[in-house]
Amino acid sequence: MNRILVTGGAGFIGSNFVHHLVRHTDAHLTVLDLLTYAASEASLTELPQDRVDLVVGDIAEADVVEPLVAEHDAVVHFAAESHNDNSLDDPSPFIRTNIIGTFTILEAARKSDTRLHHVSTDEVYGDLELDDPKRFTEDTPYNPSSPYSASKAGSDHLVRAWVRSFGVRATISNCSNNYGPWQHVEKFIPRQITNVIDGGRPKLYGDGLNVRDWIHADDHSSAVLRILQRGRIGETYLIGADGERNNRQVVTAILEHFGRGADEIDFVRDRAGHDRRYAIESGKLRAELGWAPRFHDFESGLADTIAWYVAHEDWGRPAKAATEAFYATKGQ
Ligand code: NAD
Ligand code: TYD
Repeated sequence: MNRILVTGGAGFIGSNFVHHLVRHTDAHLTVLDLLTYAASEASLTELPQDRVDLVVGDIAEADVVEPLVAEHDAVVHFAAESHNDNSLDDPSPFIRTNIIGTFTILEAARKSDTRLHHVSTDEVYGDLELDDPKRFTEDTPYNPSSPYSASKAGSDHLVRAWVRSFGVRATISNCSNNYGPWQHVEKFIPRQITNVIDGGRPKLYGDGLNVRDWIHADDHSSAVLRILQRGRIGETYLIGADGERNNRQVVTAILEHFGRGADEIDFVRDRAGHDRRYAIESGKLRAELGWAPRFHDFESGLADTIAWYVAHEDWGRPAKAATEAFYATKGQ
């Protein structure tokens, strides 16, 4: 695979993936990204110019997508509206980008017989109880809770149907919550780190006991590359790094890192329909494709991430005020 098209490559995980491919492959990369509020061109500026091209365009526009897909050996599809809280405020861009956009990519891949990897989320499976010994597997039934997760579930179903009905050469991955550099300050971990940097307090929804299964974005990237290279067409692989922590444990670790008191937390209004717990069983990916995460220990990955936000304090600054103003309107 010499030429790879990365949709959403100016977003959080997409840009981490582009950095990963530049380090670990010789491929030429084209990023297709609409540069929405969630994108950061700065995340791509340090990369070698001869390895990465940026095309600004909408994945839901067939005349943009089809010629680009046809010119590449593979498409890795990250582009999406990705934030649950925004999907509760206005679901419409989620339907357009996540469903119509994925449909447009699939039609293009079908016409040019281009290999496709579709990046999705474990949130398509709904949630688990805190005391449930089960974790999500590739066989867990779909049961999405929010407009975001329902739109991602819809996109996954489209990919499976295009594989079965039209022979599109696609794989799917469903990954747990990511953390790492270049994540927008609207998301949980960067929001709390930047609140504390600014002298404020972390904001916990509800009782703060909701559990997420954290994975570093570089580990997500290595898993996606492995699936792209060695995954079986038509298969779904769950990606996770055994990083279950409740939200309170995460903010306590952030506060401790900055030498602040563990009780300096604001408990704010809960998210509507807030999923209680996500947990991934990634045995298929590990056994079949020999993948393993590099960041075994969430706390050390979190410390690296905090150090990155401290060193790049200016990066999230332009979005911080607007993000906090949005949350304030919701009592969060
Ligand atoms: P993000 O919001 O940081 O980035 C999304 C990128 O897509 C942005 O650069 C944005 O400009 C671009 N985009 C949005 N609409 C577009 C359109 N119509 N056309 C072209 N580009 C468009 O998201 P992220 O957190 O990096 O997530 C990337 C993917 O990974 C998504 O598909 C998401 O569902 C999935 N995922 C995310 C997580 C997580 O924890 N963030 C976990 C599992 C899976
Ligand atoms: P988020 O980063 O939005 O990811 P997701 O909704 O995809 O899991 O939120 C992660 C968890 O943190 C989720 O349980 C909601 C919670 N949360 C807070 O408690 N406070 C916050 O300020 C935010 C943004 C999220």
